[in-house]
Amino acid sequence: MISETVLTTFGEGSLDSRLVDENGRLLFSKCSRPRLALRSAFINLNYAWPLQLGIPLESAIDYSANHTDRIKKEVKTLRLWEQEDILASRVHRAGGNFVTVHYIPDTVSCKRALDVNLNPDIFERLMDRYTQIRDVAKRKRNSDYLHSDPTLVNFLYDYERDLVVAIDPGTVLNPSMDFDTLDAHILARTLRDVANIEQPEEDIARYVRMFKEQMSEEDVARVTSIPHVIPEVIQTYFEIRDLAVAAIKGRKFVDTLAPLKTYCARYHAFIEDILLE
Ligand SMILES: Nc1ncnc2c1ncn2[C@@H]1O[C@H](COP(=O)(O)OP(=O)(O)OP(=O)(O)O)[C@@H](O)[C@H]1O
Ligand SMILES: [Mg+2]
Repeated sequence: MISETVLTTFGEGSLDSRLVDENGRLLFSKCSRPRLALRSAFINLNYAWPLQLGIPLESAIDYSANHTDRIKKEVKTLRLWEQEDILASRVHRAGGNFVTVHYIPDTVSCKRALDVNLNPDIFERLMDRYTQIRDVAKRKRNSDYLHSDPTLVNFLYDYERDLVVAIDPGTVLNPSMDFDTLDAHILARTLRDVANIEQPEEDIARYVRMFKEQMSEEDVARVTSIPHVIPEVIQTYFEIRDLAVAAIKGRKFVDTLAPLKTYCARYHAFIEDILLE
């Protein structure tokens, strides 16, 4: 018989997540919530419309995918990674609308670790996992192997073992984009996160140089051909939307486009030059 104790629940995200003690084993569980028709319409209004107007880097994501699609995608990729011995969340159990993975103790996200201070060693470990994943995906030319949500929060640094574990590849990618284009957009999405590390620009430049080491000439050509410009109409749309959200929810103004703006500004200031060096 399974004896289960829920230790913590995380209700803030788009999925219901909980940390569970099952017969003495710690598990992290995610379950899809039914999405209201009104909420789906809101998400479409938020993303589908601006997407068509050309918001950079978003065209690789399939925003029409629902929570269940995302859980299925996460399970598929985690299982493929397991077959390839890629260190990642290990699936314990999965069903139509939930996934339970083994909890990895004593880790911190690479985002948090790199925001605290300059740490090229941790970045190196991050690149180890990142290239391992990309190499397998490229060899198979199969985007199911790519980390579809390669932000720095979805790579956990394990201080004890000095290595990085990949988690959360649940983003559904645009099915009409070819492998190389998807891969290039994913590279750029990670670069956007690198550009937003809360450290001085010279340290970010150093990380970008390290990131570039795992890029081929074709990768550089593809990433630099992506327009790194936010159209005026998109900026106006999000300004109005963010002001409305702050007013309706009675909370502080949050600039949704801030990370993208920082990335684009730094891309033109020095990232592009480093890539083309
Ligand atoms: N296997 C794990 N071991 C330890 N901690 C984990 C594990 N999986 C997730 N976490 C922690 O929980 C957080 C949220 O998990 P996860 O990234 O899978 O979901 P999410 O980003 O909230 O949801 P979404 O699927 O909507 O992107 C992670 O940032 C990490 O801190
Ligand atoms: Mg996540």
